[in-house]
Amino acid sequence: MSESIRYDGDTWDLASSVGATATSVAASRALASQGPDALIHDPYADALVKAVGVDYLIRMANGEASIEDDPMLNRRRMTEQIAVRTRFFDDVFTNAARDGINQAVILASGLDTRAYRMSWPAGAVVFELDQPQVIEFKSRVMADQGVSPTAERRAIGVDLRDDWPAALRENGFDANQPTVWIAEGLLIYLPPEAQDRLLDSVTALSAPDSRFATEYMAAGMTLPDSWRERFKNYSARIGSDIDLPALFYDGERNAVGDYLGERGWRINVQTTRESYAANGFELPDDEMAVEFSDSAGYLTATRARAQ
Ligand SMILES: C[S@@+](CC[C@H](N)C(=O)[O-])C[C@H]1O[C@@H](n2cnc3c(N)ncnc32)[C@H](O)[C@@H]1O
Repeated sequence: MSESIRYDGDTWDLASSVGATATSVAASRALASQGPDALIHDPYADALVKAVGVDYLIRMANGEASIEDDPMLNRRRMTEQIAVRTRFFDDVFTNAARDGINQAVILASGLDTRAYRMSWPAGAVVFELDQPQVIEFKSRVMADQGVSPTAERRAIGVDLRDDWPAALRENGFDANQPTVWIAEGLLIYLPPEAQDRLLDSVTALSAPDSRFATEYMAAGMTLPDSWRERFKNYSARIGSDIDLPALFYDGERNAVGDYLGERGWRINVQTTRESYAANGFELPDDEMAVEFSDSAGYLTATRARAQ
């Protein structure tokens, strides 16, 4: 098992440490956005990955780092996996906008371009929170490309282990109106107690009818060592120096659904199996994918009205 290389107050840009994971996800989005059979439409991912400038991540975006004889790492499976994920979180925002929620928060926004590519209702405000260097980079590259946000975008460089609610309020967040929050690909990079603190803060800042969406992992579920080993081999094969499992915070953590459920949220889970079926994709024919098909997926929480 990899030893974690994380420590309190560590920082990064988009080429290093946890920042490179954001660029890697954007590379998958760039790949899935290509060609006549594109599964998603993220028109900015490719330019962002190229601007970061890390060779193996550019090769990922170009489809040159897929492994065709691997049931999960071949191009088709990789693009389907990111399509399921991207469409899920896109739908969270689209449905919230349809239901009149005008305040959105993207926690750990990385190279997420939803504030630039989605069609937001008039008056919508989208807050983005991530490490300062990550926020500055994306804002600069998008401006250099001449791309403007399609909502009022308020980008905040802050560490999500720190007092980010204060920074959010200072930037005009209104805790009296319902909010739609997403934390896509974030929680495993937070220490377990910082995850709890983050969920407490989201709860405290969420007016009735607010929504919060993130990945789902069943209580007690952990990543098997075989997965860690597999990822290491993949990294070595594509020439990446990122040891992904070493960026995670290990140790027991509360299951998000249980934690929020006990704090007045109504929980809805879409398992990986259900998510794939909803998109018309087959689950990869792979032992690990099968193992995770019912115990992992996506979660939406809705803040109940006060009784
Ligand atoms: C896997 S990436 C996901 C990015 C984006 N949500 C997406 O799905 O494309 C993880 C993101 O979490 C951010 N992150 C992790 N821990 C953080 C922390 N303590 N403070 C601020 N951002 C953090 C990283 O900077 C990175 O952008």
